[in-house]
Amino acid sequence: MAVKGHTIGKPDNRGTSRRGFIKGGIGATVGVLVSQGADASPPESAAEPAVQASEAATTAGLDSVPVETTVNGKAHTLLVYEDESALSVVRDRLGLTGAKEGCGHGRCGACSCKLDGEVVATCLLPASSLHGRELQTIESLATDLGGELHPVQKAFLAEDALQCGFCTPGFIMAATDFYDRWRAEHGDTEPSREQVAHALVGHLCRCGAYPAIYRAVRGACAGRFEGAAPTPERHDALEKVRGEATYTVDVKRDGLLEARTVRSPHAHARVKGIDTTAAMAFSGVKGVHVLTEVGGLVRYSGQEIVAIAATDRWTAERARRLVNVDYEVLTPTVGMKQARDPESVAVYPGPPRRPPFSNEGVEVPAPWKHNLRGPFSFHVQAGKARRTVQASRDEGSNGLVDGSWHTHVQCHSSLEPHACVAEWNGDDKLKVWVSTQSCTDMAEDIAKRWCLKRRNVHVQCQYIGGGFGAKATLGIEMVAAIELAKACKAPVRMALDRSEELSTGGIRPGAQVDLAMAAGKDGGLEAVDITAYNDAGVAIGSNVGIFFRLMYPGCPKAITDFDVVSHAPPGKPFRGPGGPAAFLAMESSVDAMALQLGEDPIALRRRWDVHKIRHKLYDWAEKVPMWQERGPVAADKGRFRRGVGLAASTWFHFAQSNIQVQVSSDSDGVTVSCAAQDMGNGTRTSMAAGVAEVLGIPRSEVEVQVGDSRLLHGPLSAGSRTTTTLVPATKEATSRLAKALVEHARKSMGLEDARAAEGGVAHSGGKVSWNEVLRSAPPMSFTGRRKADKGGWYLPFALNAIQIGRALTAAVSIIEVEVDSRLGKVTPRQVSYGIAAGRIVVPRLAASQIEGGVIQGLSYALLEDRRLDPRNGRLISRNLEDYRIAGLGDAPEIDIHFEESGFEHVRERILGLSELSTVGIAATLCNAVHHATGWRPRELPLRTERVLKGLAG
Ligand code: FES
Ligand code: FES
Repeated sequence: MAVKGHTIGKPDNRGTSRRGFIKGGIGATVGVLVSQGADASPPESAAEPAVQASEAATTAGLDSVPVETTVNGKAHTLLVYEDESALSVVRDRLGLTGAKEGCGHGRCGACSCKLDGEVVATCLLPASSLHGRELQTIESLATDLGGELHPVQKAFLAEDALQCGFCTPGFIMAATDFYDRWRAEHGDTEPSREQVAHALVGHLCRCGAYPAIYRAVRGACAGRFEGAAPTPERHDALEKVRGEATYTVDVKRDGLLEARTVRSPHAHARVKGIDTTAAMAFSGVKGVHVLTEVGGLVRYSGQEIVAIAATDRWTAERARRLVNVDYEVLTPTVGMKQARDPESVAVYPGPPRRPPFSNEGVEVPAPWKHNLRGPFSFHVQAGKARRTVQASRDEGSNGLVDGSWHTHVQCHSSLEPHACVAEWNGDDKLKVWVSTQSCTDMAEDIAKRWCLKRRNVHVQCQYIGGGFGAKATLGIEMVAAIELAKACKAPVRMALDRSEELSTGGIRPGAQVDLAMAAGKDGGLEAVDITAYNDAGVAIGSNVGIFFRLMYPGCPKAITDFDVVSHAPPGKPFRGPGGPAAFLAMESSVDAMALQLGEDPIALRRRWDVHKIRHKLYDWAEKVPMWQERGPVAADKGRFRRGVGLAASTWFHFAQSNIQVQVSSDSDGVTVSCAAQDMGNGTRTSMAAGVAEVLGIPRSEVEVQVGDSRLLHGPLSAGSRTTTTLVPATKEATSRLAKALVEHARKSMGLEDARAAEGGVAHSGGKVSWNEVLRSAPPMSFTGRRKADKGGWYLPFALNAIQIGRALTAAVSIIEVEVDSRLGKVTPRQVSYGIAAGRIVVPRLAASQIEGGVIQGLSYALLEDRRLDPRNGRLISRNLEDYRIAGLGDAPEIDIHFEESGFEHVRERILGLSELSTVGIAATLCNAVHHATGWRPRELPLRTERVLKGLAG
């Protein structure tokens, strides 16, 4: 096999991450750039380099087309590939990275720009169509307005109409177009929600910032943001609305190579041979790295076989198709039903079995039986629970709810794909830009895996376009980029495309939950018997049963979890792992029990539920108008039937105590820093709020540094632990700083009776501001940690660096739906969400998290459905057309109620709320559908054919 400048990979199906799953000659330069070969920096428009580029392209056997275009008012002469997109031109060649690639097939709107004044999806626009035309990207707004913000940008700042910000430039480009048209026709009037949804159809926000996007666009159109730019609620919002936030996919380095991956089409196969000769001979290819060695086993369609680095993505993509992999195709086991058949093919035929882990917790040993792993039990008097349930069955008790619930696989679908840029400095120093939920952990894992000194590994992740749990571990895109960068002696970027994201980017496992719940003659809960089966493909880590232990305690419970493995891509932790399936079964059953016992659903929960703060949420729920106004079940008999459902839910109180936050000061002000990351959850803002609370200054005056592994140890952003971890640590460090500044004021500034006060140092003669004290004080720096809660942690030790707190958060959600009984369509009309997670640090950002969680929950229950071909395990839902996620028009009105009392023992009374905002939504929706129709859904998603079948009985 001819090789050049490449690495022959080692067996690499399993890596060294302690946090979970990892898989774990220079050719002629393709002159796609007018100016300088493989460099992605902006080309010049001179004719001479274009000729050189053309010759190089001809040498490479590629078709190229000359293009003369104007981008943001500047003329460019370019030579482009015939099949290249306009998006590639603006991003990769002109360096204008405001427009993003979210899907690459015209479904998400992230790439929106204006072509001759019309909004277009540049990912679908052939680069050749730029010839003779004028393109405007989001960067043009700043130029056109002399550095001022457009009213739509101001509205996005004021309304906090974003989280991770990856979709934001696309939304803003389309919204400015709508703004112009609307105001020309209607002046200062406000468009309706429907009109905004119609105008922005085709734009997706996976974070679910839709409620705020509605407010922002309607407010801008109505002329409410024509004045001065507002102070943003969110610390990093300005960069995001300007398209200046730099995500990993936007990182530029001299000589940057782009990598693509050859993947197995087969779900089960053995690799008999790999021939990269033709790929390596392809002009522009710089190296390959083998990810599954010859003789290795393929366990899912999409498994990574070879990674290729080339001068640009288009060359790498072409070269990828030239790799010849010889497979011995084996029979796959597809789906949970087949996997549980003892006659099916075993995914892990025998020990040692080393499946990836799909949970955020700790992997505990469990027995295997064919493709079944478990049980893991959370029993409380299991024998008594089973006997009680059986007795209820035998007597045909009205106090028995008995059934199975089935949930489907959901893909994380962050709009920014998994991406990594790796750059070596010699053999022992490594820089990595990566879209990750933990830059500290990634630096440690990389150092360990590549045997480097920790201080020689520098991980950066300034902006992350969503994660939701799928970016918490060292992933194969990192392995490939790092290995290729080493072999090619050049920086390499590996970014997944949308099809790869949907295949291997991460899934929430499907589940089957068999549940029996028995009430006694007095209506008390007497027994629960549940068995859960978790479908995470080749991964394990069922997390369903634990929730039955947490809710409605005090009765015997038999709780059993099993993993069922099959030949499908591995599951990963996904916002509230295990929660949606557990609450669907549990809260549907509680709802059913209330009806069977002839009792109000809230009244029954009040009797069974011992969580004191959730009782306050029941008080609130009883006053919510849509709940008060609900009639009997299936009261509507026409085509459109309205119903209102309710469910309760909970989540853990996790924190991470091995982190440190630094707060430092100099004459310029105060800076708070930590190697945390902000993936749209508002980490920067919360840290600034922690400083601001202690010093009594505006959040906007605090500088925040995150996203850099050279800063002090930061937390993993997962499990709703970030805010509850970072804010108390920040406040501790800030209090130390304040004390030192007061001391300085007393000693060096001669202030008598100096003491910390709101905004500065109070003294016998008045008050001086912190800024004044800082101007004369020497630079100072203090650190803070997340100390244990009062009374300590639930366990005296950390599990995977997680401390489990002695508290459970609480939520009660209410949803009103309309069911079209003719078409089978379920439409959520309004949502009221009551949440008890202690003190809310920044209410607007907390509300944004909850709104996003609600929308993700609705999207999960109604739309999303990862489909594999049952014959061969290949992915069918390969793009965002086939795999639908909620758009603007799918988002109902959401009203949020914070119950901030209680949790006195928790530091600063702050708990997490991200997971809690989504785990109970599917259950609430299904209870609403039952209330509307009398039909109780037991399987998700609520696709039209499933609803029609259910309604038909
Ligand atoms: Fe163009 Fe999604 S990237 S529409
Ligand atoms: Fe829209 Fe994250 S803010 S995708």
